[in-house]
Amino acid sequence: MKTLIIYAHPRQDSFCGQILEAVIEELKILKAEIRLRDLYRIQFQPVLHEDNYSEFFQTQVSEDILEEQSYLLWADTLVFIFPTWWCGMPAILKGYADRVLTNGFAFRTVKDGTEGLLNGKRGLVFQTTGQPEQALKPSQLSMAMEAVMDYGIFHMCGIETVTHQFLYAVNGANLETRKRMIKEVRGVIEVL
Ligand SMILES: Cc1cc2nc3c(=O)[nH]c(=O)nc-3n(C[C@H](O)[C@H](O)[C@H](O)COP(=O)(O)O)c2cc1C
Repeated sequence: MKTLIIYAHPRQDSFCGQILEAVIEELKILKAEIRLRDLYRIQFQPVLHEDNYSEFFQTQVSEDILEEQSYLLWADTLVFIFPTWWCGMPAILKGYADRVLTNGFAFRTVKDGTEGLLNGKRGLVFQTTGQPEQALKPSQLSMAMEAVMDYGIFHMCGIETVTHQFLYAVNGANLETRKRMIKEVRGVIEVL
């Protein structure tokens, strides 16, 4: 298994950081090959500026994007770990999607719409939240976030969603709850 982890949190001593640690440990047990792109650590430039706007239409792709695309091509399993910020992913990760998932690389336009080009890859999402499940589910916000990632991005690119796991109300969670959540994360990776 060739696993690419996309980590989008400014700190590793966060709950997302604990998820990252658990994911890596479990992947090592599975003897998976692991590559990590810690978007803050590599200082990923997320803004699609005018000068590389054309990248999206695949006329010219810059070196930093070619490098990220090569990681995606290498992997068969993609693990995204990030916190919920304003009902979605952190801007650095949204910018990763804007700049890396270019037309002609991740998908292409066909007569009736679009066609994914990253077929055969599996996607997993671990997303922490501040709000509890009881707030995010009835308001349909978790459903909306799931739809954006799993359908709007993964499906659009031909990536099959294995799981989109929310780790709810992380900030107020006690040690026992945090341990249970990490155990659940391990359980997902164990059976990959
Ligand atoms: C800029 C910002 C925006 C946030 N917006 C939301 C939000 O819309 N919904 C929510 O449930 N939590 C929100 N939070 C709380 C974070 O999701 C929460 O602190 C995080 O998931 C906890 O995990 P961590 O320890 O890995 O950061 C926000 C936090 C920040 C810093």
